[in-house]
Amino acid sequence: MDSKIEQAFEKARSFKPSSPDELERYRIELLGKKGIITELFNDFKKLSPSEKKRTGRILNDLKNYVQQKIQTIGRELSEKDHYTYNIDLTLPANQLQLGSRHPISIVRNEIIEVFARLGFTISEGPEIEDDWHVFSALNFPLEHPARDMQDTFFITRDPDILLRTHTSSVQVRVMENTSPPIRTISPGRVFRNEAISARSHCIFHQIEGLYVDKNVSFADLKQTLEYFARELFGEETKIRLRPSFFPFTEPSGEMDVSCRCRGEGCRLCKYTGWLEVLGCGMVDPNVLASCKIDPQVYTGFAFGMGIERIALLKYDIKDIRMYFENDIRFLNQFSGTLQ
Ligand code: DAH
Repeated sequence: MDSKIEQAFEKARSFKPSSPDELERYRIELLGKKGIITELFNDFKKLSPSEKKRTGRILNDLKNYVQQKIQTIGRELSEKDHYTYNIDLTLPANQLQLGSRHPISIVRNEIIEVFARLGFTISEGPEIEDDWHVFSALNFPLEHPARDMQDTFFITRDPDILLRTHTSSVQVRVMENTSPPIRTISPGRVFRNEAISARSHCIFHQIEGLYVDKNVSFADLKQTLEYFARELFGEETKIRLRPSFFPFTEPSGEMDVSCRCRGEGCRLCKYTGWLEVLGCGMVDPNVLASCKIDPQVYTGFAFGMGIERIALLKYDIKDIRMYFENDIRFLNQFSGTLQ
Protein backbone atom coordinates (compact mmCIF):
# COMPACT_ATOMS: atom_id res chain seq x y z
CA MET A 1 0.00 0.00 0.00
CA ASP A 2 2.79 2.39 0.94
CA SER A 3 4.54 1.93 -2.38
CA LYS A 4 1.25 2.39 -4.26
CA ILE A 5 0.73 5.69 -2.43
CA GLU A 6 4.30 6.70 -3.21
CA GLN A 7 3.73 5.95 -6.91
CA ALA A 8 0.49 7.95 -6.90
CA PHE A 9 2.33 10.91 -5.33
CA GLU A 10 5.00 10.61 -7.99
CA LYS A 11 2.40 10.67 -10.75
CA ALA A 12 0.57 13.61 -9.17
CA ARG A 13 3.78 15.61 -8.89
CA SER A 14 5.16 14.96 -12.35
CA PHE A 15 1.97 15.65 -14.24
CA LYS A 16 1.83 19.09 -15.88
CA PRO A 17 -1.43 19.55 -17.79
CA SER A 18 -1.17 22.35 -20.35
CA SER A 19 -4.79 22.56 -21.48
CA PRO A 20 -8.19 22.34 -19.79
CA ASP A 21 -8.76 18.96 -21.51
CA GLU A 22 -5.53 17.53 -20.14
CA LEU A 23 -6.37 18.83 -16.70
CA GLU A 24 -9.73 17.10 -16.79
CA ARG A 25 -8.04 13.84 -17.83
CA TYR A 26 -5.60 14.26 -14.94
CA ARG A 27 -8.49 14.78 -12.54
CA ILE A 28 -10.36 11.68 -13.74
CA GLU A 29 -7.20 9.55 -13.63
CA LEU A 30 -6.53 10.47 -10.01
CA LEU A 31 -9.86 11.43 -8.44
CA GLY A 32 -12.49 9.93 -10.79
CA LYS A 33 -14.76 7.03 -9.78
CA LYS A 34 -12.11 4.54 -10.85
CA GLY A 35 -9.20 6.91 -10.27
CA ILE A 36 -5.98 5.96 -8.53
CA ILE A 37 -6.75 7.83 -5.32
CA THR A 38 -10.33 6.54 -5.17
CA GLU A 39 -8.99 2.98 -5.48
CA LEU A 40 -6.47 3.67 -2.73
CA PHE A 41 -9.29 4.79 -0.46
CA ASN A 42 -11.12 1.54 -1.26
CA ASP A 43 -8.00 -0.43 -0.29
CA PHE A 44 -7.73 1.73 2.83
CA LYS A 45 -11.04 0.40 4.12
CA LYS A 46 -9.54 -3.09 4.37
CA LEU A 47 -6.67 -2.00 6.64
CA SER A 48 -6.48 -2.71 10.37
CA PRO A 49 -7.33 0.18 12.71
CA SER A 50 -3.68 0.81 13.64
CA GLU A 51 -2.58 0.93 9.99
CA LYS A 52 -5.55 3.12 9.15
CA LYS A 53 -4.37 5.87 11.46
CA ARG A 54 -0.99 6.26 9.76
CA THR A 55 -2.04 5.58 6.17
CA GLY A 56 -5.16 7.74 6.42
CA ARG A 57 -3.07 10.84 7.08
CA ILE A 58 -0.81 10.17 4.07
CA LEU A 59 -3.78 9.43 1.83
CA ASN A 60 -5.49 12.66 2.84
CA ASP A 61 -2.28 14.58 2.16
CA LEU A 62 -2.21 13.03 -1.32
CA LYS A 63 -5.85 13.90 -2.00
CA ASN A 64 -5.39 17.49 -0.78
CA TYR A 65 -2.26 17.89 -2.85
CA VAL A 66 -4.03 16.74 -6.02
CA GLN A 67 -7.13 18.88 -5.39
CA GLN A 68 -4.99 21.93 -4.74
CA LYS A 69 -2.93 21.33 -7.87
CA ILE A 70 -6.06 20.94 -10.01
CA GLN A 71 -7.46 24.19 -8.62
CA THR A 72 -4.24 26.16 -9.15
CA ILE A 73 -3.58 24.88 -12.66
CA GLY A 74 -7.25 25.34 -13.53
CA ARG A 75 -7.05 29.01 -12.55
CA GLU A 76 -3.79 29.53 -14.47
CA LEU A 77 -5.20 27.91 -17.58
CA SER A 78 -8.39 29.96 -17.57
CA GLU A 79 -6.40 33.19 -17.16
CA LYS A 80 -4.10 32.19 -19.98
CA ASP A 81 -7.12 31.27 -22.03
CA HIS A 82 -8.62 34.68 -21.37
CA TYR A 83 -5.52 36.63 -22.29
CA THR A 84 -4.14 34.60 -25.14
CA TYR A 85 -7.13 33.11 -26.83
CA ASN A 86 -10.12 35.45 -26.41
CA ILE A 87 -8.52 38.81 -27.08
CA ASP A 88 -7.69 39.70 -30.62
CA LEU A 89 -5.08 42.42 -30.33
CA THR A 90 -5.42 43.26 -34.00
CA LEU A 91 -8.99 44.50 -33.53
CA PRO A 92 -9.33 48.32 -33.63
CA ALA A 93 -9.87 49.92 -30.21
CA ASN A 94 -13.33 51.12 -29.23
CA GLN A 95 -13.88 54.59 -30.66
CA LEU A 96 -14.46 57.46 -28.25
CA GLN A 97 -17.75 59.06 -29.21
CA LEU A 98 -16.91 62.77 -29.33
CA GLY A 99 -19.78 65.13 -30.03
CA SER A 100 -19.57 68.09 -32.37
CA ARG A 101 -20.62 71.69 -32.08
CA HIS A 102 -23.99 72.60 -33.52
CA PRO A 103 -23.63 74.50 -36.83
CA ILE A 104 -25.43 77.49 -35.31
CA SER A 105 -22.85 77.64 -32.50
CA ILE A 106 -19.99 77.26 -34.97
CA VAL A 107 -21.18 80.15 -37.12
CA ARG A 108 -22.16 82.30 -34.13
CA ASN A 109 -18.68 81.89 -32.63
CA GLU A 110 -17.08 82.66 -35.95
CA ILE A 111 -19.09 85.88 -36.33
CA ILE A 112 -18.29 86.87 -32.73
CA GLU A 113 -14.59 86.37 -33.42
CA VAL A 114 -14.65 88.56 -36.51
CA PHE A 115 -16.26 91.45 -34.63
CA ALA A 116 -14.09 90.89 -31.57
CA ARG A 117 -11.10 91.67 -33.79
CA LEU A 118 -12.71 95.06 -34.48
CA GLY A 119 -13.16 95.75 -30.78
CA PHE A 120 -16.83 94.78 -30.43
CA THR A 121 -17.87 93.39 -27.05
CA ILE A 122 -20.70 90.90 -26.46
CA SER A 123 -23.96 91.98 -24.80
CA GLU A 124 -26.89 89.83 -23.87
CA GLY A 125 -30.48 90.56 -22.95
CA PRO A 126 -33.65 88.75 -21.87
CA GLU A 127 -35.67 86.59 -24.27
CA ILE A 128 -38.89 87.63 -22.52
CA GLU A 129 -39.14 91.35 -23.12
CA ASP A 130 -41.51 94.28 -22.79
CA ASP A 131 -42.99 96.35 -25.57
CA TRP A 132 -40.65 99.25 -24.90
CA HIS A 133 -37.40 97.40 -25.61
CA VAL A 134 -38.67 95.42 -28.60
CA PHE A 135 -40.85 98.02 -30.31
CA SER A 136 -41.47 101.45 -28.76
CA ALA A 137 -37.90 102.55 -28.05
CA LEU A 138 -36.99 101.32 -31.52
CA ASN A 139 -39.39 103.77 -33.14
CA PHE A 140 -42.02 101.20 -34.19
CA PRO A 141 -45.31 103.07 -34.75
CA LEU A 142 -48.30 101.82 -32.76
CA GLU A 143 -49.99 100.37 -35.80
CA HIS A 144 -46.91 98.42 -36.97
CA PRO A 145 -47.86 94.82 -37.97
CA ALA A 146 -45.07 93.34 -35.77
CA ARG A 147 -47.15 94.37 -32.78
CA ASP A 148 -49.87 92.09 -34.02
CA MET A 149 -50.62 88.77 -32.30
CA GLN A 150 -50.21 87.08 -35.69
CA ASP A 151 -46.54 88.06 -35.83
CA THR A 152 -45.42 88.10 -32.21
CA PHE A 153 -45.85 85.72 -29.28
CA PHE A 154 -47.40 87.79 -26.51
CA ILE A 155 -47.30 86.47 -22.96
CA THR A 156 -49.57 89.17 -21.55
CA ARG A 157 -51.25 92.21 -23.09
CA ASP A 158 -51.42 95.52 -21.31
CA PRO A 159 -48.76 95.53 -20.05
CA ASP A 160 -47.37 93.94 -23.17
CA ILE A 161 -44.89 91.20 -22.29
CA LEU A 162 -43.66 89.16 -25.22
CA LEU A 163 -40.98 86.89 -26.62
CA ARG A 164 -38.48 89.16 -28.36
CA THR A 165 -38.84 89.11 -32.15
CA HIS A 166 -35.31 90.41 -32.72
CA THR A 167 -32.10 91.02 -30.79
CA SER A 168 -32.37 94.76 -31.51
CA SER A 169 -33.97 94.95 -28.04
CA VAL A 170 -30.49 94.45 -26.59
CA GLN A 171 -29.37 97.52 -28.52
CA VAL A 172 -31.85 99.57 -26.47
CA ARG A 173 -30.78 98.00 -23.17
CA VAL A 174 -27.11 98.70 -23.87
CA MET A 175 -27.75 102.32 -24.88
CA GLU A 176 -29.91 102.89 -21.79
CA ASN A 177 -27.17 101.63 -19.52
CA THR A 178 -23.93 102.75 -21.16
CA SER A 179 -22.71 106.05 -22.44
CA PRO A 180 -20.90 106.18 -25.79
CA PRO A 181 -18.55 105.09 -27.22
CA ILE A 182 -20.47 101.82 -27.59
CA ARG A 183 -19.27 99.02 -29.80
CA THR A 184 -21.11 95.77 -29.13
CA ILE A 185 -22.76 92.75 -30.70
CA SER A 186 -25.62 90.74 -29.22
CA PRO A 187 -26.15 87.15 -30.24
CA GLY A 188 -29.33 85.43 -29.09
CA ARG A 189 -32.51 83.50 -29.67
CA VAL A 190 -35.59 85.20 -31.12
CA PHE A 191 -39.20 84.15 -31.62
CA ARG A 192 -41.81 84.87 -34.26
CA ASN A 193 -45.29 83.56 -34.74
CA GLU A 194 -44.56 81.97 -38.10
CA ALA A 195 -45.52 78.69 -39.71
CA ILE A 196 -42.62 76.25 -39.73
CA SER A 197 -41.34 75.49 -43.21
CA ALA A 198 -38.08 74.83 -45.04
CA ARG A 199 -37.44 78.60 -45.10
CA SER A 200 -38.80 79.86 -41.77
CA HIS A 201 -39.12 78.78 -38.16
CA CYS A 202 -40.79 80.19 -35.07
CA ILE A 203 -37.46 80.08 -33.17
CA PHE A 204 -34.19 81.23 -34.66
CA HIS A 205 -31.01 83.13 -33.80
CA GLN A 206 -29.77 86.60 -34.61
CA ILE A 207 -26.72 88.74 -34.04
CA GLU A 208 -27.28 92.45 -33.60
CA GLY A 209 -24.44 94.95 -33.98
CA LEU A 210 -24.28 98.49 -32.63
CA TYR A 211 -21.67 101.23 -32.84
CA VAL A 212 -22.36 104.65 -31.30
CA ASP A 213 -19.79 107.43 -30.99
CA LYS A 214 -19.06 110.93 -32.22
CA ASN A 215 -18.74 111.15 -36.02
CA VAL A 216 -19.79 107.61 -36.85
CA SER A 217 -20.72 107.62 -40.53
CA PHE A 218 -22.28 105.40 -43.15
CA ALA A 219 -18.76 104.90 -44.54
CA ASP A 220 -17.78 103.31 -41.19
CA LEU A 221 -20.77 100.99 -41.46
CA LYS A 222 -19.87 99.95 -44.99
CA GLN A 223 -16.22 99.39 -44.13
CA THR A 224 -17.12 97.29 -41.08
CA LEU A 225 -19.56 95.13 -43.02
CA GLU A 226 -17.15 94.65 -45.90
CA TYR A 227 -14.48 93.42 -43.49
CA PHE A 228 -17.00 91.09 -41.86
CA ALA A 229 -18.13 89.63 -45.21
CA ARG A 230 -14.58 88.96 -46.36
CA GLU A 231 -13.59 87.35 -43.09
CA LEU A 232 -16.62 85.10 -43.05
CA PHE A 233 -17.15 84.24 -46.70
CA GLY A 234 -13.60 84.65 -48.08
CA GLU A 235 -11.18 87.25 -49.34
CA GLU A 236 -12.80 87.49 -52.79
CA THR A 237 -16.24 88.36 -51.42
CA LYS A 238 -17.88 91.56 -52.65
CA ILE A 239 -20.71 93.38 -50.92
CA ARG A 240 -23.64 95.37 -52.22
CA LEU A 241 -25.92 97.67 -50.22
CA ARG A 242 -29.54 98.15 -51.30
CA PRO A 243 -31.84 100.81 -49.83
CA SER A 244 -34.41 99.42 -47.40
CA PHE A 245 -36.52 100.42 -44.44
CA PHE A 246 -36.41 99.68 -40.70
CA PRO A 247 -38.16 101.89 -38.13
CA PHE A 248 -34.99 102.16 -36.02
CA THR A 249 -32.49 103.17 -38.71
CA GLU A 250 -32.38 106.05 -41.15
CA PRO A 251 -31.15 105.56 -43.81
CA SER A 252 -31.55 101.78 -43.84
CA GLY A 253 -30.01 99.22 -46.12
CA GLU A 254 -29.80 95.56 -46.86
CA MET A 255 -26.46 93.96 -47.56
CA ASP A 256 -25.87 91.24 -50.14
CA VAL A 257 -22.65 89.30 -50.57
CA SER A 258 -21.40 87.94 -53.87
CA CYS A 259 -22.24 84.27 -54.40
CA ARG A 260 -19.56 81.57 -54.70
CA CYS A 261 -20.69 81.00 -58.27
CA ARG A 262 -18.99 84.36 -59.06
CA GLY A 263 -22.04 85.73 -60.78
CA GLU A 264 -22.38 82.80 -63.15
CA GLY A 265 -25.68 81.99 -61.49
CA CYS A 266 -26.60 79.02 -59.33
CA ARG A 267 -29.55 77.63 -57.38
CA LEU A 268 -28.29 79.10 -54.08
CA CYS A 269 -28.34 82.71 -55.32
CA LYS A 270 -31.35 82.00 -57.55
CA TYR A 271 -29.22 82.95 -60.56
CA THR A 272 -28.72 86.54 -59.36
CA GLY A 273 -25.08 86.21 -58.24
CA TRP A 274 -25.96 87.85 -54.88
CA LEU A 275 -27.02 86.49 -51.47
CA GLU A 276 -29.00 88.62 -49.02
CA VAL A 277 -27.23 88.54 -45.67
CA LEU A 278 -28.31 91.30 -43.28
CA GLY A 279 -30.18 94.52 -42.53
CA CYS A 280 -28.38 97.67 -41.42
CA GLY A 281 -28.48 101.44 -41.21
CA MET A 282 -27.67 104.57 -39.24
CA VAL A 283 -29.37 104.53 -35.84
CA ASP A 284 -32.47 106.75 -36.07
CA PRO A 285 -32.05 109.92 -33.94
CA ASN A 286 -35.40 109.09 -32.29
CA VAL A 287 -33.93 105.81 -31.01
CA LEU A 288 -30.86 107.56 -29.59
CA ALA A 289 -33.13 110.08 -27.87
CA SER A 290 -35.37 107.29 -26.45
CA CYS A 291 -32.25 105.82 -24.87
CA LYS A 292 -31.13 109.20 -23.46
CA ILE A 293 -28.24 109.63 -25.88
CA ASP A 294 -28.00 113.09 -27.43
CA PRO A 295 -28.49 112.74 -31.22
CA GLN A 296 -26.91 116.19 -31.69
CA VAL A 297 -23.63 114.85 -30.33
CA TYR A 298 -23.62 111.20 -31.25
CA THR A 299 -24.37 109.11 -34.31
CA GLY A 300 -24.28 105.39 -34.73
CA PHE A 301 -24.80 102.46 -37.01
CA ALA A 302 -26.53 99.15 -36.40
CA PHE A 303 -26.99 95.91 -38.24
CA GLY A 304 -28.72 92.62 -37.64
CA MET A 305 -28.48 89.18 -39.19
CA GLY A 306 -29.99 85.72 -38.84
CA ILE A 307 -27.44 83.08 -37.87
CA GLU A 308 -29.47 80.27 -39.46
CA ARG A 309 -29.37 82.10 -42.74
CA ILE A 310 -25.61 82.72 -42.64
CA ALA A 311 -24.96 79.06 -41.76
CA LEU A 312 -27.32 78.00 -44.54
CA LEU A 313 -25.35 80.03 -47.05
CA LYS A 314 -22.00 78.88 -45.71
CA TYR A 315 -22.80 75.18 -45.65
CA ASP A 316 -25.45 75.04 -48.38
CA ILE A 317 -28.10 73.69 -46.01
CA LYS A 318 -31.40 73.13 -47.78
CA ASP A 319 -33.92 73.17 -44.93
CA ILE A 320 -33.93 75.38 -41.82
CA ARG A 321 -35.78 72.66 -39.86
CA MET A 322 -32.61 70.54 -39.88
CA TYR A 323 -31.08 72.83 -37.25
CA PHE A 324 -33.73 71.82 -34.76
CA GLU A 325 -34.28 68.14 -35.50
CA ASN A 326 -31.07 66.90 -33.84
CA ASP A 327 -30.58 64.25 -36.49
CA ILE A 328 -27.16 62.80 -35.72
CA ARG A 329 -26.45 62.27 -39.44
CA PHE A 330 -26.76 66.02 -39.96
CA LEU A 331 -24.88 67.07 -36.82
CA ASN A 332 -22.00 64.63 -37.38
CA GLN A 333 -21.09 66.45 -40.56
CA PHE A 334 -19.82 69.33 -38.44
CA SER A 335 -17.53 67.27 -36.23
CA GLY A 336 -13.91 68.30 -36.31
CA THR A 337 -14.83 71.97 -36.71
CA LEU A 338 -12.88 73.69 -33.97
CA GLN A 339 -14.84 76.91 -33.50
N1 DAH B 1 -34.02 93.70 -36.30
C1 DAH B 1 -34.05 93.45 -37.73
C2 DAH B 1 -34.84 92.20 -38.02
O1 DAH B 1 -35.07 91.42 -37.12
C3 DAH B 1 -32.66 93.29 -38.26
C4 DAH B 1 -31.93 94.60 -38.26
C5 DAH B 1 -32.00 95.43 -39.36
C6 DAH B 1 -31.23 95.01 -37.16
C7 DAH B 1 -31.35 96.64 -39.40
C8 DAH B 1 -30.56 96.21 -37.16
C9 DAH B 1 -30.63 97.02 -38.29
O2 DAH B 1 -29.87 96.67 -36.13
O3 DAH B 1 -29.98 98.21 -38.30
O4 DAH B 1 -35.20 91.97 -39.13
